[in-house]
Amino acid sequence: MNYNPYVNVQNVMEEARKTGGIDRRFFDVIKHPQRETKVYLPVEMDDGEVRVFEGWRVQHSNIRGPFKGGIRFHQDCDLDEIRALSVWMSLKCAVVDIPFGGAKGGVRVNPSELSRRELERLTRRYTFAIEPLIGPDKDIPAPDVNTDAQTMAWVLDTYSMLNGRPCPGVVTGKPVELRGSRGRASATGKGVVISTKLILARSGLKLPDVSVTIQGFGNVGRYAAKAFHEQGAKVVAVSDISGVLYDADGLDIPSISEFAKTKAPLSTFNDGHAEHLSVGDIFAVPCDVFVPAALENQIDETTAAVLKCSYVIEAANGPTTEAGDRILAERGIQLVPDIFANSGGVIVSYFEWVQNIQELTWERDRVTDMLDDIMSRAFGEVLEEMARSSCSLRIAAYIVALKKLVYAEEIKGIFP
Ligand SMILES: NC(=O)c1ccc[n+]([C@@H]2O[C@H](COP(=O)([O-])OP(=O)(O)OC[C@H]3O[C@@H](n4cnc5c(N)ncnc54)[C@H](O)[C@@H]3O)[C@@H](O)[C@H]2O)c1
Repeated sequence: MNYNPYVNVQNVMEEARKTGGIDRRFFDVIKHPQRETKVYLPVEMDDGEVRVFEGWRVQHSNIRGPFKGGIRFHQDCDLDEIRALSVWMSLKCAVVDIPFGGAKGGVRVNPSELSRRELERLTRRYTFAIEPLIGPDKDIPAPDVNTDAQTMAWVLDTYSMLNGRPCPGVVTGKPVELRGSRGRASATGKGVVISTKLILARSGLKLPDVSVTIQGFGNVGRYAAKAFHEQGAKVVAVSDISGVLYDADGLDIPSISEFAKTKAPLSTFNDGHAEHLSVGDIFAVPCDVFVPAALENQIDETTAAVLKCSYVIEAANGPTTEAGDRILAERGIQLVPDIFANSGGVIVSYFEWVQNIQELTWERDRVTDMLDDIMSRAFGEVLEEMARSSCSLRIAAYIVALKKLVYAEEIKGIFP
């Protein structure tokens, strides 16, 4: 059967509902997105041809605050993937208790086939198409797979042009020069490292005691590698879509990060130390901590059986299938779930939005300290739920989030 992330997230929500004893009545309201918009985007290519791309913006819930979620450019994007990602955003914001709902956007495109000017035209056309739906107090996009601060600058400029005034609060993850937050680019990776520290501390371990493998070396994986390295963990393998770099004694992460800034594939990196392995070999690398930071559906029944780690920290959204989850549990591998582990990005997006609407600029240390505080407090709440419900960390995190969402639905009531 083909993996469907939307079916996956709904199944896990249902299991959490039953385990947490959550009433069915209002739960059903949040099982589905509030609104799904499909757009067709004509773009003039550099050679004069016109191509029409498909895109979506799915708004899952705004019961706890404005819709919030990234924009993904990927050749395999489809509605169910964007739906699942929108649900995960609502759950994520609820579990760490920031006042946002959940949304996600996507365009089915292979961005590596487009020139920079073509990507800019596509981004601006997509922004135009979803402009009535977004806004600083309505729905606030951010970067995701294959989009970055530059993409957000184009979204911001297009939205501001259409509205006749600068509107920095319409997107987060924008460049600092355009009122982005200090510490936003590295926030998801830093949050992954905070998550790792929190789970290791339960066994009396610290980062210098562990070796780490990271699948995916983009916005999230690259900054996670940097933070792991700086805090004393030994990063033994990193990968991107082109291949794996491996060194049992620890990779030279500063050099690899510098190299990756050029967007060159890791398979072309050569420092005379790192060994090259093929993409699928990442799962078999012996390490203490495995960090999937690429896409969904990576740890399934086959790869979960191969992993040689004690911990999985889900930096990507939905990297583990339900079957993969069961095998990890049977093998005693501890997992920190995506809706908590990668929440650093949306937490600092929240800080960025707060700075924008208050016309303030915060120092990096303030951002980092507050990120740490929010994640540490939320982790404590998830651990309490895990003990109360005798369940996995994933189910506990879902219960914490669902209780907040369902209770908010209940006290609000149904309109009209
Ligand atoms: N950007 C954020 O702030 C953010 C926040 C929370 C969660 N996430 C999630 O983290 C994940 C990664 O997002 P990103 O923003 O870093 O994307 P990105 O496009 O910057 O990087 C993705 C990386 O994964 C690699 N990759 C893709 N398929 C692969 C494969 N099969 N094997 C190995 N590597 C592969 C790519 O080569 C690239 O290095 C996604 O699931 C995303 O939804 C991102």
